[in-house]
Amino acid sequence: MKKLSRSRRSFLFSAGAAALWIPRSVKGYSTTEMHSFDRDGQVEDTITKWDLDTPALCVDLDALERNLKTLQQTVSGNGIASRPHAKTHKCPAIARLQLETGSVGICVAKVSEAEAMFEHGIEEILLTTTNVTPLKISRAMRLRKWCAGFIQATDSLNNAHSLSEAARAVGITADIVVDVDPGGHRTGISPGQPALELAQEIDRLPGLHLRGILCYDGGSQHVKGFEKRKTQTLSRLAPAGETIDLFKRSGLNTEIFSGGGTGTYNIDHETPFFTDVQVGSYLFMDAQYMSIGGATNDEIYSDFEPSLMILTTVVNDQYKGQVTTDAGAKACTINQPWPIVKGETGMSYRSGSDEFGTLQYDNPSRTYKVGDKLELIVSHCDPVVNLYDQMYAIRRDQVEAIWRIEARGMST
Ligand SMILES: Cc1ncc(COP(=O)(O)O)c(C=O)c1O
Repeated sequence: MKKLSRSRRSFLFSAGAAALWIPRSVKGYSTTEMHSFDRDGQVEDTITKWDLDTPALCVDLDALERNLKTLQQTVSGNGIASRPHAKTHKCPAIARLQLETGSVGICVAKVSEAEAMFEHGIEEILLTTTNVTPLKISRAMRLRKWCAGFIQATDSLNNAHSLSEAARAVGITADIVVDVDPGGHRTGISPGQPALELAQEIDRLPGLHLRGILCYDGGSQHVKGFEKRKTQTLSRLAPAGETIDLFKRSGLNTEIFSGGGTGTYNIDHETPFFTDVQVGSYLFMDAQYMSIGGATNDEIYSDFEPSLMILTTVVNDQYKGQVTTDAGAKACTINQPWPIVKGETGMSYRSGSDEFGTLQYDNPSRTYKVGDKLELIVSHCDPVVNLYDQMYAIRRDQVEAIWRIEARGMST
């Protein structure tokens, strides 16, 4: 093996260790330094978000806590529960907060997310995606062996048979929900007779235990205008409601009817037999959701507050009418609409190039110079979170905790 030169060895040592070579008098703590302040997830030293090196992902704790409370109060007032989707935050610390504030469990999209959540102490997990390969099926069933609160979705007879065999091979009976298609034809089995026949087969198979259905109407979540959204989703969920009624009349277990999301969280309870809403984005909000309008505000969806921000630094201010920042596609994604500069008007942001963002002045409430930091409300929260290893939990500008995004990049 090639030997490292002395200078390269000392560089790697100083960069990887406590980053001793960065003078403390310069504010702008690196990720490595921030982790050295971390005591079991809490940061006791006085560090403000403005001291963080950028781009950095920050979550405002007051806003996050208000979002958790609004959700729980609304769903419990409507007689249903919440089973939030952890594909949004991928962070066990947040999953714990959701469970502590009343959620009955969490959802995940991938087996690897489920494994990461379980490894970090989360035990009530619904995997909303049907696994089709033998590898994923056996991983899910092995997880179920250790995690009694694990529930798996399925949408075909063949898949149910494979699940039953894999469950028997590890000596368990796996909990299963039937994924019913709301009409988008993305995943799920057709409602009515096909779903009933699948449920009856699950009920007969030795390795499976039927728990109910899952029906996620993704196509309605971002419909603009509350009344339009409501009419659409209620009509699309109605066949699933009739299906679970069929299950009931056939003597099958109907304890779970899970579905919905942030756009329909205050509508879903109107579908008969609906039990729990799988909200994801409500925690953080984003530019996509803010534009759909709500029951009380036609223009802006203000039921939940934006709590997730990308902190970015201006790196060039030499050109008229714009500045360049260090948050481009690798920090923000290129989802549309573009991120929004928090608290400012008359300027628009583009994260179209890999490493840089452009802030264009139209009629700006202020201007920025090199070294200034600004906060961006994210375009679409899920893919943004997946770009970062940790998020900084901020209360009134102070860094209160560092939350590891343990399931970041877990896409298998
Ligand atoms: C199956 C499923 N349930 C729930 C959600 C949560 O949606 P939202 O972030 O809109 O609340 C998603 C998001 O894509 C999903 O795929």
